[in-house]
Amino acid sequence: MQAVVTGATGFLGKRLVQSLCREGVSVRCVVRRSSNVGGLRDFLGDDWRKVDVARTELTDFSACVDALSGADVVYHAAAGLTGSTSTLFLNTVIPTRVLMDAALEVEVRRFVLISSLGVYGTASLPSGSVLDESSPVEPEPHLRDPYTYSKVVQEQAAWEAWRERRLPLVVVRPGVIFGLERGVLSGRVGVQVGGRLIAMGGGQTLPYTFVENCADAIALAGMEPGLEGEVFNVIDDDPPTAARLLKMLRRAGRRPRTVRVPGALIGGFSGLYEWYHRYSRGQLPGVITRYRSASMWKKLRFTNEKARRQLRWRPEVAFDEAFRRSLQGPDGRQ
Ligand SMILES: NC(=O)c1ccc[n+]([C@@H]2O[C@H](COP(=O)([O-])OP(=O)(O)OC[C@H]3O[C@@H](n4cnc5c(N)ncnc54)[C@H](OP(=O)(O)O)[C@@H]3O)[C@@H](O)[C@H]2O)c1
Repeated sequence: MQAVVTGATGFLGKRLVQSLCREGVSVRCVVRRSSNVGGLRDFLGDDWRKVDVARTELTDFSACVDALSGADVVYHAAAGLTGSTSTLFLNTVIPTRVLMDAALEVEVRRFVLISSLGVYGTASLPSGSVLDESSPVEPEPHLRDPYTYSKVVQEQAAWEAWRERRLPLVVVRPGVIFGLERGVLSGRVGVQVGGRLIAMGGGQTLPYTFVENCADAIALAGMEPGLEGEVFNVIDDDPPTAARLLKMLRRAGRRPRTVRVPGALIGGFSGLYEWYHRYSRGQLPGVITRYRSASMWKKLRFTNEKARRQLRWRPEVAFDEAFRRSLQGPDGRQ
């Protein structure tokens, strides 16, 4: 099997390339001209000799066609993670459109899109609901954050290509990916304001997946037959609650400076924060709104049953071990 991986220089992409190499897959990494492949080379070690690298801008259709020639499967992990809405649109939505056009042109057998669990519209779900692949996609992405907005629009474009042009699409929606380099804290625990972590609630389960486990699931999404049109959520078996994660961090000697907002007060606090952000014309950054709070810090239950059943995925590294391996970074912070 010949696979193409975009975003191969990234946190997830590196592990995906490694996972594919271990499966004996021949991998071509499509990276931009400005990408630094040194980290990927060091990370892969001996496997580096097994991959080839195509320097291609994902906005250049004919260059993408060349880069994809002979490919059976495209794993599209490249995306912007930070920046304004327009920056994220340029780095996520437009490259996806061009790459899908090229994939259709060379008639790949499978196009695996790495989306995000963040695309679900969780604000309207009752507390305690199970979030699975049938849960609704965010109907108001503009009320979330620029990243979520870009991932929702990216998926919309991909589903349109699946429906109207028969792109052989499989969508993978990982939860928060953690691991060395990123640490274990994320926006699902709370937000950083002025050097402090405002920890929201604590009882909410964190939809976490260790980067190596996640990469294995994605690799399988390109290999198992008959999955076109399917979506897979990727969350590990035993994700912690936010309170448990913070306790584990303290036990490990990491003490993020934390102010805790109890779960019952999140709605009121968020309304007040949102009001003050407007009233003070941005003295506090506009990172907390009632809508975002209802989306991010609700107590939900998560399942990986579909990925376990249809991808035959088993997260190999259990949470406690993944946590230990992730803490070798500077402060356990994402
Ligand atoms: N991290 C998470 O918690 C998480 C959770 C769910 C889903 N995801 C998804 O997983 C994927 C990988 O995320 P990550 O955490 O590995 O991100 P990352 O470390 O920031 O890597 C992003 C990768 O995308 C490439 N890239 C960015 N803009 C590009 C462009 N315009 N053209 C070509 N390549 C571009 C980067 O290449 P350069 O080296 O050239 O910058 C890099 O290889 C993304 O699709 C993300 O949305 C991530």
